[in-house]
Amino acid sequence: MARTDPPVKVPLVQQPLGIFGSLSAARRNIIGIIPEVATREPIVSGRTGTRWHMVTEPAAIRRILIERVDEYPKSMVTKNLLRPAIGESMFIAEGADWRWQRRTAAPVFSHRNVMNLAPIMTAAAERSAERITQAGNRAVDMAADMVRTTFDVIAEVTFSADGSFDASAVHRGLDAYVAEAGKVSILDVLGAPDWVPRPARLMASRTSVVEMHRAADEAIEARRQRGAQGIPDLLDLLMAGEDPKSGRQMNTAEMRDNLLTFIVAGHETTALTLAWSLYLCAFDPDVQDRARTEVHAVCGNAPATAEDVENLPYIRQIVDEALRLYPPGGVVSRTAQSHDQLCGTDIQPGDTVMLPIYALHRHHAHWAEPDHFRPERFADRKAIKRFTYLPFADGPRICIGASFALQEAVIILATLLGRFRFTPVQGRDPKPVMILTLRPEGGVWLEAEPVSAPSQAA
Ligand code: HEM
Repeated sequence: MARTDPPVKVPLVQQPLGIFGSLSAARRNIIGIIPEVATREPIVSGRTGTRWHMVTEPAAIRRILIERVDEYPKSMVTKNLLRPAIGESMFIAEGADWRWQRRTAAPVFSHRNVMNLAPIMTAAAERSAERITQAGNRAVDMAADMVRTTFDVIAEVTFSADGSFDASAVHRGLDAYVAEAGKVSILDVLGAPDWVPRPARLMASRTSVVEMHRAADEAIEARRQRGAQGIPDLLDLLMAGEDPKSGRQMNTAEMRDNLLTFIVAGHETTALTLAWSLYLCAFDPDVQDRARTEVHAVCGNAPATAEDVENLPYIRQIVDEALRLYPPGGVVSRTAQSHDQLCGTDIQPGDTVMLPIYALHRHHAHWAEPDHFRPERFADRKAIKRFTYLPFADGPRICIGASFALQEAVIILATLLGRFRFTPVQGRDPKPVMILTLRPEGGVWLEAEPVSAPSQAA
């Protein structure tokens, strides 16, 4: 029997907040600025310093992300925020400067290359299982463990931990940066006037960013000297890559900025997907049992591998549903460049146009029982209407790492569910809070009881 109550959610605001209300709500939780009506109406508009619109209507989303993509570049806020850490990388660049980087990096994420990197994901899943075993009867914060696990993966696939790369310097640099940047962005997204006091802007993190760039540059130079060895990692692939149109190759700074981008964009997002998936499995034991049966049938007691992924459809449905209920990128933001009309509303140049993915994924026009955990809704992918489910956005700027992330999430989730039965710790439900990404505040604390596949059980 599926659970009839919904898992944790963010209470959306019932009435438009004034500027101070919005600012103080957003300082706590940016999803707190999404009004409840955004889960019922096609567009909601307002003004908090700048004019903004939240769009959840599929045809209007298609217009923003595909048909008039050049008129809706990523918002300055996002760019200004990330530029000091990741430069003019693919995530930030626009126009020709973006296009050649995207073309150069696209083959890096081909199906074959992503499959080749799977043993690193399987090994990281095994190390996580060992840590959980070590914890014995003590509850484990699976959100923290998943951050560690996905960082292991991304550090290894970007710079292969071959001794030439100081992974902890990068980890420290990014953590310090993102913690500070998160605070700034919330005020800026809302177009707060300049006199609103900002936190001690990124000062604290500057040294860490310098240290992080140095660690990455050194690793790239070391690789140039030594050349590629064994299965190519993302650095080897990017070093060998060239823009098929112009033949241009990335220099050290361009490679560094893009590799750091992969780390920033790919590590916490995937960790959150896994943390929320585990929370949901603990929340609904029937789903968890069914998932485990699938894993044991496909993998026995072995950890999941790349070849198993396509035979684990129910695990994939759980990941898809976790990405629906708790999309790590909860809001995608653009700045309009010219006059337009969206759902009958006038859009002016300079307006902030947001796709509130969190609200889109819980929209009453698109989803039955929008707040409930129902992995089976993804059993038939064709039944999901385009532009109603956008955990990776869409159009030319769709997430380049989507298949990498999904493969990693399925391998790690399957491996852990095959080894342990997870139960929630009473009274420690996580609270969804969006700073830069949608995080489970308080952690995902679970108890883990070891299990094994039936045929091999004593
Ligand atoms: C579950 C995990 C992930 C989620 C939910 C996610 C989500 C997203 C979203 C929503 C965007 C579009 C942002 C926008 O247009 O404003 C994006 C872009 C991007 N993502 Fe991901 N991402 C994930 C994992 C990854 C991974 C693993 C990598 C790389 C290894 C990655 C690299 C990128 C890059 C480079 C872009 C910018 C692409 C461009 O502008 O051309 N992401 N991601």
